[in-house]
Parts: sequence; structure tokens; C-alpha cells
Amino acid sequence: MQLTQPIILSYVQAESLLKAKQQGKAFIEISPDLGLSTVLATLTSEGISFPSGERLDWQGLGKMSKSEVNCFILEGDTYRPIQVFSEYTNRVCSLMPTRGAPSMLIAGFVMHRIKDIDPMQDTLRKIAAISPVAGRVLDTATGLGYTAIKAAKTADEVVTIELDPGAQEIARLNPWSQELFHSPKIQQIMGDAYEVVQTFEDGSFARIIHDPPTFSLAGELYSGVFYQQLFRVLKRGGRLYHYIGDPNSKASGGVTKGALKRMQEAGFARVVRKPEAFGVVAYK
Ligand SMILES: C[S@@+](CC[C@H](N)C(=O)[O-])C[C@H]1O[C@@H](n2cnc3c(N)ncnc32)[C@H](O)[C@@H]1O
Repeated sequence: MQLTQPIILSYVQAESLLKAKQQGKAFIEISPDLGLSTVLATLTSEGISFPSGERLDWQGLGKMSKSEVNCFILEGDTYRPIQVFSEYTNRVCSLMPTRGAPSMLIAGFVMHRIKDIDPMQDTLRKIAAISPVAGRVLDTATGLGYTAIKAAKTADEVVTIELDPGAQEIARLNPWSQELFHSPKIQQIMGDAYEVVQTFEDGSFARIIHDPPTFSLAGELYSGVFYQQLFRVLKRGGRLYHYIGDPNSKASGGVTKGALKRMQEAGFARVVRKPEAFGVVAYK
């Protein structure tokens, strides 16, 4: 963990701390960054204290252990949920814990798969659908930056677009998103992908990762006009991965059917369902 990073906890750490208290322990190895690393925290009758000075009482930890939708940031001896109201979109964004990498909630919608899979495994499936990921990559919807970060492991450059400053604020506080802000290969653009993509040159990306919010939140990112733009900026021989949702659910099944048709009309030579990645891959 970087020294400048604040301590971020969720119900996962709160449960371990409460268990250690019950067992009468004086010290515990606990993660200050949602599972990425550990530090040795001290347990007292009042609560716990971290080597960097932050403290939290048992009452606070009790409340935290019951919250399945928020992660919390420690500030001195107080804490607050990682949650912002985005004035730009009029939506609440928050960091949502899992037992692995956290997800983000926007207006109550979870931005990654979390059922029987964690957001990072979900991300690896998206990337695997268009492997090898090489050359210049476009990531149309930054979110927590997981797709951009994983693509940057093998790509020359990743250009990633985020509409909502609230989502970016959440990513900035997420320990699992830090490479998004530090990787020299990742270029972040704040704006509407629908407009920003129009400014890119023809054939300027070898791979595109299109991972928009659900259709009901961002219908224009599933439109034929937008797919035409994605087709235009993709290189010949390039591939596009498009997250759509569980192909076996009634709602996403219907959206997939329409999206496939519009992508073919937009010019893609072949559009293939990738049920394991909850999306489709289109070839140019
Ligand atoms: C499903 S999440 C993306 C998850 C991301 N790929 C990751 O790995 O964490 C969708 C993101 O798209 C953003 N978004 C919504 N509409 C957008 C638009 N028109 N242009 C760019 N980003 C948009 C949302 O704010 C949200 O952060």
C-alpha cells in the first residue's frame, strides 16, 4: 500500500476485527486496503488503532460489519462511507465491497458482476474475450478502471473515458484502482463517450472494450449510431468486446439480440456471443 493512501475498510475487515476481539487478541494482521496488503493493528477495550494513527471504536466496527453496500474511509478517529452524490448526473455513486475487489454502485446499479464471481475475475473474462490485447486500446467507460488497468498490462496505450466526476472520485479512493492514476500507459478522458469517440481518427484502435452501464441507464451507448462510430475508430482486423449482461436473463437476452443486429448493420463482419463474458465480441 502506498503511504499516502487512506485506510479503507469494509464488513470483511470489520468481521475479522470483531472476531479477534471475541477471541481476546491484542494484535491482528488486518488489511487497510480492502485485501491488497496487511498491517498489524492493536486491539484495545475501546476499539482498534492502526500503525499510522487512525482509530476506530467497537461501535463503529459493529455498524460497519452490517453494511454490505458501503466501504468506509477512516479519517483520524472518525469514518465515513465512500459515497458521493454526483451533481453532474444526479446520481449517487458509492464503493461497494465484496470479498474480493470492490464494485461501484451507481444509482443502485452494480457496475460489475458479483454473483459467483468477483469484479476482478469478471474483468479478466472481458479482457480474455478479445485477447491478445495489444496495440492502442479504447476503453469507453472507465468506472473503477479495472478493464483499463488489466488492458494496460499488455497494450501499448489505453485511452479510457468516464462521464461522471463522481465515479472518478470513487475510483480515486479505491485501493484497487490506483494504477488508473499512476500507469503511464493509461490516458483518462473525462467526457461523454458518445461525443468523445467522434473526435478519434478512423482505425486508430486495435482493441475496444465497451463496458457501459445497463441499457436503462445509458441507452445511447447501445445505439446504432454509436456502434457505427466504434466501427469507424477500430482498425481493420481489430476486435471489440461489448458487455451487455447475462445472456440467459430475459432483459439482457433481449438487449443482446437488438445490439447484435445493430452492430452487424454498423458494419462489423462478425459478431459473436460470449456468454462466459456476459457480452459479445465484434470483428472488423
Ligand atoms: C459498468 S461501469 C464500467 C466498469 C469499468 N469497465 C471497470 O472496469 O471498472 C460503467 C461506467 O460508465 C460510466 N458512463 C456512463 N455513461 C457514460 C458515457 N456516456 N460516457 C462515458 N462513461 C459513461 C459510468 O459513470 C460508469 O462509471
